[in-house]
Amino acid sequence: MLAVRSLAAGDVPAVTRIVCDLPEYFTSDVPGKVERDISRHDGWVLTDSGDVAGFAVAARRSPGAAEILWMAVDPSRRGRGFGTVLLERVLRELAADGVSVVEVKTLDRSAGYQPYEATRAFWERKGFVYVDTIDPLPGWQPGNPAAIYIAALRPTR
Ligand SMILES: CC(C)(COP(=O)(O)OP(=O)(O)OC[C@H]1O[C@@H](n2cnc3c(N)ncnc32)[C@H](O)[C@@H]1OP(=O)(O)O)[C@@H](O)C(=O)NCCC(=O)NCCS
Repeated sequence: MLAVRSLAAGDVPAVTRIVCDLPEYFTSDVPGKVERDISRHDGWVLTDSGDVAGFAVAARRSPGAAEILWMAVDPSRRGRGFGTVLLERVLRELAADGVSVVEVKTLDRSAGYQPYEATRAFWERKGFVYVDTIDPLPGWQPGNPAAIYIAALRPTR
């Protein structure tokens, strides 16, 4: 049975395991960054019969805007709708908290890196609209062009 709840400090080892199990997506510095962001921002975990099967972390950027900083599903469970369940809950809670637009940054198609084709397909399928490419993006390693995606949770005008 799938459930979504707030991410607690005790979830860090399970979240770290998911990140480490996705080496095509996350470099070795990411677990530390995720742990730091979990302590500063809102997070959620998706559980599958009690086991942590996915997580998301979102930062508030302004009263009406948030950014999903991190999101991943256990690789053995990808492509089965788990990410959709988690994302819908995150977006519903952000909307209820007054957020109008949500940003996500991911690896741009110009990088020519195949694993992230599925990631961009996921965001686009979930209604995120490609807005821009930033290269280099401050804080990202050189050679990793960032694709900026935005989803509107409500009209802003
Ligand atoms: C991106 C991720 C969180 C999505 O979670 P998921 O459980 O695999 O996604 P879902 O099964 O809910 O897929 C939802 C949609 O995305 C699309 N999608 C998912 N995987 C896809 C793939 N490999 N190729 C094309 N489209 C894909 C599907 O069209 C699906 O659409 P549907 O709702 O019509 O079926 C997950 O795959 C993951 O952890 N990826 C690696 C880490 C990562 O890229 N994180 C995001 C960094 S920005």
